[in-house]
Amino acid sequence: MPCQRKKSEFESKVQSTSTWSFPLLNLPAELIIHVGHFATSTRLGFPTGALNKHLVTLFGSATSIATRAENYHASRVGAVLGEIRRLGAVGKAGSTPDSGRPKVIKTLLDRGIPDHEDLDRIFRQAAQSGALQIVQMMVQDYGGIQLISSQPIRQENPLAKAIKERHDAVALYLLSLNHREDSLYAPEDLESALRVAVAKDAKVLVQALVPHLAPFSIVLSQCLFSAAVTKRSPSLVEAIISSARTANYTLHPDCIGDALKRVSVHGNVAVVKVLMENLKDDFMPGTLDRVIGIAEVLGRGEVAKLLKKYLQCELTTTSPSIISTGFKNARVLPLPFPSEPDATPVPASSLIPFYHPPHSKAPAPLTITTLSELLFYSLSVSAWKNGGPGDKGAYALRCNPSSGNLHPVECYVIGKGLDAAATVGNVVGVWHYAPDDHVLEERGTAKEGAELWTKVGQTLDGGPHAEHGLILCALTSVTFREVWKYGIRGWRYCQLDVGHAIACLSLSASLLGWSCRLLHARSLTIGNLVGAHLPDQFVRGEEEEPCCLLAIGPRQVSGTKVTIGSEQDLDSALAELATLVDFGNTGPTELSPTGVRWSYPQIEVVSKLTQREDLTTDPGDLSPAGLIQPPPIVSTLESQTILNPQSAIRIRRSTTEMSTGDGALPLSTFHSLLARTVPHLAWSAEPDAERQQPWSVLSDDFVDVHLVIAVHEVEGLAKGLYLLVRSPLQSSDTPSVLKHFLHANPTLVANAAPLQLYLIKEGYFARVMGGLSCMQDIARDGHFSLAMIGRVPSDEVGTPRYRRVFWEAGMLGQVLYHEATMRGGSATGIGCYFDDAVAGVAGLNGGDGEGTGSGALGGEFQVLYHFSVGVSREDERVRRGDPYSVVKGMDRTAPRQTA
Ligand SMILES: Cc1cc2nc3c(=O)[nH]c(=O)nc-3n(C[C@H](O)[C@H](O)[C@H](O)COP(=O)(O)O)c2cc1C
Repeated sequence: MPCQRKKSEFESKVQSTSTWSFPLLNLPAELIIHVGHFATSTRLGFPTGALNKHLVTLFGSATSIATRAENYHASRVGAVLGEIRRLGAVGKAGSTPDSGRPKVIKTLLDRGIPDHEDLDRIFRQAAQSGALQIVQMMVQDYGGIQLISSQPIRQENPLAKAIKERHDAVALYLLSLNHREDSLYAPEDLESALRVAVAKDAKVLVQALVPHLAPFSIVLSQCLFSAAVTKRSPSLVEAIISSARTANYTLHPDCIGDALKRVSVHGNVAVVKVLMENLKDDFMPGTLDRVIGIAEVLGRGEVAKLLKKYLQCELTTTSPSIISTGFKNARVLPLPFPSEPDATPVPASSLIPFYHPPHSKAPAPLTITTLSELLFYSLSVSAWKNGGPGDKGAYALRCNPSSGNLHPVECYVIGKGLDAAATVGNVVGVWHYAPDDHVLEERGTAKEGAELWTKVGQTLDGGPHAEHGLILCALTSVTFREVWKYGIRGWRYCQLDVGHAIACLSLSASLLGWSCRLLHARSLTIGNLVGAHLPDQFVRGEEEEPCCLLAIGPRQVSGTKVTIGSEQDLDSALAELATLVDFGNTGPTELSPTGVRWSYPQIEVVSKLTQREDLTTDPGDLSPAGLIQPPPIVSTLESQTILNPQSAIRIRRSTTEMSTGDGALPLSTFHSLLARTVPHLAWSAEPDAERQQPWSVLSDDFVDVHLVIAVHEVEGLAKGLYLLVRSPLQSSDTPSVLKHFLHANPTLVANAAPLQLYLIKEGYFARVMGGLSCMQDIARDGHFSLAMIGRVPSDEVGTPRYRRVFWEAGMLGQVLYHEATMRGGSATGIGCYFDDAVAGVAGLNGGDGEGTGSGALGGEFQVLYHFSVGVSREDERVRRGDPYSVVKGMDRTAPRQTA
């Protein structure tokens, strides 16, 4: 039997009493701890092990640890953060987390954390440390839900922090609290969380996050791009695609097309395979064709072979080198070539007669030479790229820009006596302009049309037009040329291209002192006049859509504003004239002999609905009453010299790369550029001066396309987002468009008057604009880039005004191209942008300005077109010199054989 030590009286007392009566231990625990602390630090000790044991228990209690931690950190918040970090460290080391810690943290929290911001910090720390229990505790007991959705936490969201450290359990728990319809997280938080998850290759988290994104988030598409191109991870790409499918999100065709292109360039067969297996029907038509070409050129044989399996058909004939329709066996009328203009600078102020003709110069008479000039300075070939004229692989560029250089717009000139043979007699000719050879092709003739032609002239200005000479220019659009490459949005590009062509013709007419006006003819009348109504003459799918009709010719020398008489009479005369035109057996050459047709029912619908079927005025024709005419703005024209307009028209190019670091754009130049986009502003005090061209082309005062401008580098102007209101002010001095913006109190930029330029948000938006413009650097690197926004109430989408608003945007683009070029700058029209995200950044409130509305992003406003202005880097692929050098040596009277 082991020898038993005799218990001391004290020990016996301790062990025999369940309620220990040692007086020290009846003291409050906090005090005992202090005593204990004193005892330990002074090495006094206590006489018995039992007491020590008890004290150890007390020291190890949550209350004790909490107090010591608080003392150690000299603050309660510091103590909580420290304890959470310890917890995280324990968890990280692989051992089981210290189970006592949450109690300590709870004790500290229960003692009270008065500051809301401190609670935020604690919550974020818990998420970052992967302390699931603490995160849960804070959500349940300490208002965590409010913490998630509270403002300060948004900037450093706990979800992203948990994801970044790969604390998947915490991240999944935080996501489980969220409802897509009533989200706790701001959209930016969820988007940044997704980006982090992709960067961390966290497939599970990606799949969990996707259903929470906002419906129009482009981030998912961008993430697909980085998963494919940066991470090169087939499984991550697959996870993104499958979760997008499940959540019913459409991946942006441009992003996926770009991703395919880049991974093909890298030769990453595994990722190419995943993309093709999952998305083969989602690529833009034409993407595959191009990517195969790139892969072949770069020697990525395996990728090219794989892609070819998915290529259902080859498109070979809509390449950019074919720049206009040709009419088989049509009689050809060569136009005399004007010589290329000298690049002589002129004083900026000397442009006033060009902006407001006629001032001093008498209009040029209408002859074959002046008609040639009109077309030479508007729609002709002005340069070649990738080689000179006639070189293999080189292609022509024109005075008018076009999305993808695909040039869907065709121009028909209708007039009497345009060629020598028809000068005498009654023949009215319908001629197709072929810019490749700078010739007119006879589309049809009205042998007995003279009388009706006079009638047409009389309905315009009551006669002077007939007297001084008149031509009509009908613009049509071959939708197929754009749609094979860009899909549905190709239709919008066609309309923007029409707008560019209208402005080009108007500017060119102005150089001759001529007027140029858009007529309100019915679409059917226009189609009948140019033979677009003859299905037998067109290849199915390649039909031309009638767009608009312009009356062009020498104006009255007196300068009286030109008015249209009766639109009804005009349309009737034109319709009657059309019945007299004999279109013979000719028809346009086929664009795609392989017969590939992409079917887009949406395009057929929008095209039909927006045709002008009658002459009833639509809201676009109403001149608002009480417009205030601002004073002329001559004083703001810069004092320096600029390039003459003829040269600017001929050398204009879309910049493919903006130069950076060239300094800021002078403020006066910025103001002048903008002033040229505002129709009702005048550069002259002449009482009879017409509205500045090209805006005089529109016969009404209704303007509802405005500019949201991101100023990157303009001298003396704060970087930020601005709104240029282009409509004239009415009696009230606040433009109604401002009601549609969410940003509080846009401020009028005082020194920009008479421009109605408002600062809506200060900040540097260059990178944002690049991103919003489909990640294109040209929108980021210039002096400024902009989004054109147009008011298109939903009930007007299916009306002719819908087209008209895009034409106006295209015209705006042409003015910017031209004005920038004259001032040594450069520009690019940008058709690719993310509409809803743009509306979000611009702060368009989704309402109708009256507090009602659908709530859809952008509301009544639609983003129509993006544009960037800056200084271009030299593009060595562009060949200047005489673009017609080869053509000039050929017989241009023979029928054209465009294949
Ligand atoms: C409606 C429209 C949209 C365009 N979109 C883009 C674009 O998104 N990105 C781009 O780099 N260029 C864009 N461009 C510029 C065209 O690519 C350019 O006009 C074409 O290649 C012909 O070159 P040019 O303008 O020098 O004649 C666009 C042009 C137009 C008219």
